[in-house]
Amino acid sequence: MRSPDTAVVLVAGGSGERFGRPGGKQLAPLAGRPVLAHSFDAAAASARVGFVVVVCPPSRVEEYAQALCPRPSSAEVRFVAGGERRQDSVAAGLAEVPDAFDYVVIHDGARPLALPELFSAALDTLDADPGLDGVVVGYPSVDTLKRVEGGRVAETPDRAQYWAVQTPQAFRASVLRRAYVQAEAAGLEGTDDASFVEAVGGVVGLVEGPRDNIKVTLAEDLALAEAVVAGRSERSAR
Ligand code: C5P
Repeated sequence: MRSPDTAVVLVAGGSGERFGRPGGKQLAPLAGRPVLAHSFDAAAASARVGFVVVVCPPSRVEEYAQALCPRPSSAEVRFVAGGERRQDSVAAGLAEVPDAFDYVVIHDGARPLALPELFSAALDTLDADPGLDGVVVGYPSVDTLKRVEGGRVAETPDRAQYWAVQTPQAFRASVLRRAYVQAEAAGLEGTDDASFVEAVGGVVGLVEGPRDNIKVTLAEDLALAEAVVAGRSERSAR
């Protein structure tokens, strides 16, 4: 078995305001475990993962640590306070990752349905191609996309050129660190991590993942996630 070469930054530092229930989404129960525990267990499942940093809302670090521990993982686990924007939370997590790890995988705590195989696929694709600096998971857009200006359609791009992209996103650690330093210096804002790697000229590959890797944002998303988990256990019981 290869020794651990990968660290995971699990970002769960958002306020979860849109979820609209006290306590937020990350600790809400999904099939008997907190949403965040599902994300953690899938992200940490590989023996390649030796370190996991869970980024929490600043006032809830202790609460998240208690809700999550212990987890069935041999990785070293750390809980840290996040920042105002998602990218600030990722930067706070990245700062904790020891230099010894060659790869960093970033995952949204709010995506509890990503399976361990998806993490492995992203890492293996990155590993197999020395020309890649990162790999994102997603799928080709199935919807028609419109660019909107002032509430009116300005343009309909060719959807064949577009993917919907989620996490996990896997990167060579050195490139990701450089990308984050540059993003901070240039005042860039982004909704994913790959965009910062792209901004420093990094090459990012794609792995096609399932469409059920949803982000739990609204309370109704949790019902959808419950249905997906129930469907999976029904299929595995057959
Ligand atoms: O806000 P958004 O839906 O993009 O959040 C995606 C993930 O990033 C969530 O798991 C959320 O908790 C996390 N996040 C964070 N710190 C923030 C904002 C979002 O860790 N300031």
